[in-house]
Amino acid sequence: MATRKRITVADFLAMKKRGEKISMLTAYDFRTAKLLDQAGVEGILVGDSMAMVVQGHTTTVPVTLDQLIYHGEMVVRGVERSLVVVDLPFPINHLALAELVDRAGRLLKETGCQAVKMEGGAKQAECIEAMVTAGIPVVAHVGLRPQSINLVGRYRVHRDRDVLLTDARAAQQAGAFAVVVECVPADIAAHLSADLEIPTIGIGAGAGCDGQILVTDDLLGLTTGYVPSFVKQYADLQTTMTDAVQKYCGDVRSGEFPGPDQTFT
Ligand code: KIV
Repeated sequence: MATRKRITVADFLAMKKRGEKISMLTAYDFRTAKLLDQAGVEGILVGDSMAMVVQGHTTTVPVTLDQLIYHGEMVVRGVERSLVVVDLPFPINHLALAELVDRAGRLLKETGCQAVKMEGGAKQAECIEAMVTAGIPVVAHVGLRPQSINLVGRYRVHRDRDVLLTDARAAQQAGAFAVVVECVPADIAAHLSADLEIPTIGIGAGAGCDGQILVTDDLLGLTTGYVPSFVKQYADLQTTMTDAVQKYCGDVRSGEFPGPDQTFT
């Protein structure tokens, strides 16, 4: 079977120029990554949301660099075409630039991903620049930054147009090739998107962004806890899975499974 051409950082920028929307989703394992890739998503994020979705934590803070490398590597193995981005985990803002570049470099070298994502804008411009200078493509992340939850106390919509614009412009100036815009009113996110040359990837930021990203479990109806109001649920896999498992348990109890077709003679 012919291999499909890998999507690159340059393709993201070209898509923005052509006015083509970019779709991104999260994945943390081989099977999901393969499925998303074959379904045609342009970008896959091995997000630190893994702490909540896979590990059962209440915030994204606990996930470690080694865990993101372990899962990132599985994801990359499942992907042929999508651009794979892996999150830099908390904490990073205190790091000397050389240490930060080392950590980001480990993500690229040990997973085979094409880029890293770092929460931040203007205050992180030096960090972004250092990684880009070292040859590491960076996605910035402005608006709601879940890694700061212990500092800010709650997840909220970010409405300060000037701060958002300063952050997004600084990230672009520092060399980021895309910027995630999280929990921002649609008109402000659309303004950022029109202002920037790099694509904005919105999550809870309206239709005016150059692309969209969601946590895959939210979209598939697999999330057991809180689901943000900006999520559109495209399937109800929780019900499908529960029904299947209940049927199996019933069949085991009644002796219906295994039947003749599942039995060696
Ligand atoms: O960690 C994550 O999954 C994210 C997004 C959904 C943008 O940062």
